Amino acid sequence: MADGSNGDAFVAFERVQKSYDGETLVVKDLNLSLPKGEFLTMLGPSGSGKTTCLMMLAGFETATHGEIKLDGVSINNIPPHKRGIGMVFQNYALFPHMTVAENLSFPLEVRKMGKSDREAKVKRALDMVQMGAFGGRRPAQMSGGQQQRIALARALVFEPELVLMDEPLGALDKQLREHMQFEITNLAHSLGITTVYVTHDQTEALTMSDRVAVFNDGRIQQLAPPDELYEQPQNSFVAQFIGENNTLEGTIAEIRGDHCVVKLDGGETIDATPVNVTKVGERTQVSIRPERVEVNKERLQEGAHTLKAEVLEFVYMGDIFRTRLRVAGRDDFVIKTRNAPDQIRMTPGSMIEIGWLPSDCRALDAP
Ligand SMILES: Nc1ncnc2c1ncn2[C@@H]1O[C@H](COP(=O)(O)OP(=O)(O)OP(=O)(O)O)[C@@H](O)[C@H]1O
Ligand SMILES: [Mg+2]
Repeated sequence: MADGSNGDAFVAFERVQKSYDGETLVVKDLNLSLPKGEFLTMLGPSGSGKTTCLMMLAGFETATHGEIKLDGVSINNIPPHKRGIGMVFQNYALFPHMTVAENLSFPLEVRKMGKSDREAKVKRALDMVQMGAFGGRRPAQMSGGQQQRIALARALVFEPELVLMDEPLGALDKQLREHMQFEITNLAHSLGITTVYVTHDQTEALTMSDRVAVFNDGRIQQLAPPDELYEQPQNSFVAQFIGENNTLEGTIAEIRGDHCVVKLDGGETIDATPVNVTKVGERTQVSIRPERVEVNKERLQEGAHTLKAEVLEFVYMGDIFRTRLRVAGRDDFVIKTRNAPDQIRMTPGSMIEIGWLPSDCRALDAP
């Protein structure tokens, strides 16, 4: 399904490439398909091609190569306003000469909806973004965040089958952003709207999405549900980009099925799971999440390799303890432990031993 060949897909990118200047490809070979009702997020660094993909799906840019299909039909030659797609773009263009209520009513008028239905829908959409009192204002009379919420309401007011959103919450404060994240996913799921959402914010991507496509350099690096993305990153880029992560560099010393031994550059030896490394002698970056580091030796498998570590810093964060260690010559190794009654608070300067289950330590490519 993820290869874009599924005939049941509601949205499909098939071998899509895009170049703006006829030389460099900013989208390199995009294959992506979404079933109806899915909430998919494109996540990636600035310039990785997310907006470009959304613009092609909306019809404001054409693909240089490949095909984009909606409900099985190629839309390469269908103009944007005939695609029936709700959109919120990075520059939330509202009609400046219309009031908020008129902005929201417009897509309903175009669809020939009666006045009382229009008013009910506009009211509901405004309430959703907590802007019920702003119906009579014009865009220039509102803050950036308020305009952004109106743009969001306008994209959803006609209950489109497909909604595209490009950083729709970027201008909002944390509390409002979290409220809107909840409202958007709730609404999308309850109305069965298929959503393609773009963000830089990994927490937003993980909490809102059915699946996340991690972009880098015009390619999807991994496409997976949030838990799989976080727990089973398929390469170093994804491991570094999603969540907090410890990295140790070394060389593969032994490899057997789903287990390998890595000789770290500092000379120590550790156990890991080989992910995208294949042979002895290969360079690797091993990746381990701070919450999966074990400081209690009794919880480790028999014969597990451990490492000596020096405690550098202890930070009390309420629900968790965050401790920074010097490990294998690096002083940026972080562990997180839950603030449980029996949890020890480590003292800077002391020496401890750490280990992990090999399944929590992933040997990835060394870029
Ligand atoms: N209209 C354009 N003409 C020429 N190059 C463009 C145009 N729009 C985007 N690009 C280039 O294409 C690449 C991808 O841009 P895009 O806007 O898709 O990135 P993005 O992932 O949305 O980034 P951001 O997170 O910063 O919004 C960038 O290198 C950008 O400079
Ligand atoms: Mg963008």
